[in-house]
Amino acid sequence: MIDEIRAARDEALAAVRQADSLESVIALDPQLLGKKGRLAQLKTQLGKLDTIDEKKVAGQAVNEALQAVAAAFAARRAELGDAALAAQVRAERLDLTEYVGKPTRGHAHLVTQAWERLEDVFIGMGFQVAEGPEVETDWHNFEALNMPIGHPARGEWDTLFVDHAAPGDEPGRTVLRTHTSPVQIRTMLEQEPPIYIVAPGRVFRRDTPDATHMPVFHQIEGLVIDRDITMADLAGTIEAFTKAFFGSEFSSRLRPSFFPFTEPSAEFDIQRPDGSWLELGGCGMVHPNVLEAGGLDPEQWSGFAFGFGIDRMAVMRHQIADIRDMFVDDIRFIEQF
Ligand code: FA5
Repeated sequence: MIDEIRAARDEALAAVRQADSLESVIALDPQLLGKKGRLAQLKTQLGKLDTIDEKKVAGQAVNEALQAVAAAFAARRAELGDAALAAQVRAERLDLTEYVGKPTRGHAHLVTQAWERLEDVFIGMGFQVAEGPEVETDWHNFEALNMPIGHPARGEWDTLFVDHAAPGDEPGRTVLRTHTSPVQIRTMLEQEPPIYIVAPGRVFRRDTPDATHMPVFHQIEGLVIDRDITMADLAGTIEAFTKAFFGSEFSSRLRPSFFPFTEPSAEFDIQRPDGSWLELGGCGMVHPNVLEAGGLDPEQWSGFAFGFGIDRMAVMRHQIADIRDMFVDDIRFIEQF
């Protein structure tokens, strides 16, 4: 009996080892561990043995054999189960690289692109880039630009006042800068002429948004201070800039205008290839009072300044009908550029 039990056990263990798939090992279960299995059959025959001792020894041997087979069966089943799962995962894995794997590259905002291109063009013409704060004193934004308190021209700028008093200044005299022109003053106070700078930046006005206006928009200021600078230098610079930025099929003109901080003053228009004109900014010869506010002697130094709307240039360049489209973050719009 003991020999038979051992033989049945070894046969069962060999069968478990040889099973090479989860299905085949599971199929072995009834025949190895079920009631009709060989070991179970042997168990039923224990009663036929002659002595109690023989029954005890054989009974223990059958139980041990069943345990050994059950353990081997469970281990093999787990092993084949893991392999089957791994194979299933491999087989069912979805290859989504076609959809999400392609890195989609974004791009700078159209205003940033225009801003950077403007800097490049002016740097190419020998200018340096200057900056000023977005929250300005009334003095830099208006007074030093020849617009003392009560000056009627102040009314043209729909100013946003900030509830803050700059050190040594009265409350209510701090503003979100309405233009980049205060950088003219800051630059004159900071560096000796000759000065050739551009100052791009964000500006703020209480303007209602429409197709050509935003309450927050961008300008680029230009300032040149040197000896014997004339209006011809201004016109030549603007024409050279127009061709460098927009292309040789564009040209520019200056139209008489008024700004308190330039004298004479002009509007700068560009002519598109279709012959139509578009106003891009203001410019003029720096007013003597502004030179004095910047600490310079108007008898010795002269210069010109200009201020263009960057957003309008971006709109122009890409033939966008409405300036507001650039700020709504609609991916279908953004992806076109
Ligand atoms: C000025 O802001 C002057 N500081 C320009 C200047 C500088 C003149 C130096 C002389 C010397 P103006 O308010 O016209 O000027 O604005 C200049 C340009 O900013 C406009 O021509 C236009 O292109 C742009 N702009 C003005 N308001 C808006 C707005 N709400 N939204 C978008 N662009 C605007």
